[in-house]
Amino acid sequence: MQSIKKGFIILVGLIMVFTLTACGGSEDASSSSGGNDSSGIKEMTIKISHVVAENTPKHKGAMAMAKYIEKNSDGKIKVQVYPNGQLFDDKTEVKNLRANNVQFIIPDMSKMVGMNPAFNIPSLPFIFSSNEEAYAFWDGETGQEVLKSLESEKIIGLKMWPNGPKQITNTVRPIKTPEDLDGLKIRVQGGQVLANLFETLGAGPLQLPFGELYTALEQGTVDGQVNTFSNISTKKLGDVQKYITINWGAARVDYALLTNEKFWNGLNDETKELIQAGIDHGTKQARSLAEQLNQEGFKKIKERGNMEVYELSDEERKVFQETLQPVYDKFEEQIGADVIKAATEATAE
Ligand code: LMR
Repeated sequence: MQSIKKGFIILVGLIMVFTLTACGGSEDASSSSGGNDSSGIKEMTIKISHVVAENTPKHKGAMAMAKYIEKNSDGKIKVQVYPNGQLFDDKTEVKNLRANNVQFIIPDMSKMVGMNPAFNIPSLPFIFSSNEEAYAFWDGETGQEVLKSLESEKIIGLKMWPNGPKQITNTVRPIKTPEDLDGLKIRVQGGQVLANLFETLGAGPLQLPFGELYTALEQGTVDGQVNTFSNISTKKLGDVQKYITINWGAARVDYALLTNEKFWNGLNDETKELIQAGIDHGTKQARSLAEQLNQEGFKKIKERGNMEVYELSDEERKVFQETLQPVYDKFEEQIGADVIKAATEATAE
């Protein structure tokens, strides 16, 4: 009897030790203050949230970043990537980043202009003629200052990720001249500059979250929208649009990779160094894939064949460029003449 009782006590003890070990092994980064006093890679789970589909530069970059961090932490850090607004959408992601419910988000910069109007830069008409020019600005001194300007929001801008130039789609008529946009309702991502760009062309801009775009087009809430080939193709927007004008490119979709101060400043040096290397790796992937994924997207749009494609000639494009020039004067003060100058002068290396 005595030995049965002793055996039972040992068994209960073993169960308790096992349970404590299993539960205490890994910390969710949202509940962790990071504990930057301890050395070594800290066990944690990191969440990355974004709103677009899987076959896009943003998702591929996020996956590359996640895999790098998991592998090089010997599995101590788990990284969960949530695409398609599954975790947080355009309306909720910044708030949840600030609250550290998510550790990284990668919004379109035109959705961040409330935090700093300089994030309107990719919406200025024809500001960059290539991804490389955009990198030159965002990796340069002024671009870095803009990315780092979010301390009052408790957010840290880490890196610019590209998507590319916006093409324009609609259901009413092929867009060949600025006049063709007259009276059309166009969904825009965000920001005063993009809205004004369409007002200058006689269209009515309407800001809507990405997750509501397909339905808004389907139901005729808006006549058209502007986006990259990869977003148009992966969300099958051609199923609810009749015309696409390419070589328009008056504005771009560019992203800012953001984290929050609570998470980032709580990391110990070794963990931060590893995550930073993961960010660099993800950035490289996103940047090297953006052009290719957009070309693949365009190919798929043509193969699907449900939108009539019109390619603007360089002369036709120039007419848009001249018509949209006043947008620069209107926003010079708000964005900052020095910021616009640095962006205009950024040249590809
Ligand atoms: C959109 O809202 O149309 C895009 O900016 C979405 C994205 O993140 O690429």
